[in-house]
Amino acid sequence: MTIATRFKVNGREVSVSVEPRTSLADCLRHELKLTGTHLGCEHGVCGACTVLVDGAAVRSCLMLAAQADGAEIVTVEGLSDGDELSPLQAAFRRHHALQCGFCTPGILTTAHALLTEEPDADADRIRDVISGNVCRCTGYVSIVEAILDARAAYADRRTSA
Ligand code: FES
Ligand code: FES
Repeated sequence: MTIATRFKVNGREVSVSVEPRTSLADCLRHELKLTGTHLGCEHGVCGACTVLVDGAAVRSCLMLAAQADGAEIVTVEGLSDGDELSPLQAAFRRHHALQCGFCTPGILTTAHALLTEEPDADADRIRDVISGNVCRCTGYVSIVEAILDARAAYADRRTSA
């Protein structure tokens, strides 16, 4: 049995037919070929699979694709404008905030949700919010520096909205 599910992903309306047990992460990766969303633990611990669902950072391994019906989803592929890096992505590059990059999509989406709501988040707040995203390479210092550096772009965006 499959369920017809429609949602918007990175601004595009999509319609998929999925088994009731299919996770949103598997749907994004296998049905929609959005492989920027990574799967580590597959049980809600590592944060690698984080995407935005109606603006909130959500672990897509813990959500069923069928539950996304009618939602607006943004994956890491949707953070940038074409080939142009977003200010947050550019800050990650500047600060060398990734090594293997496995955790990076989840950290970018988590940080994007945070800075959209709280462009003045301080280092403690950033550390608290990304504490659910496991990185085995960087030691987190450069990640926090990159997110701090990207704050100005989010503050500007808010002022001009
Ligand atoms: S793969 Fe979803 S939290 Fe680890
Ligand atoms: S950069 Fe390798 S796990 Fe974070």
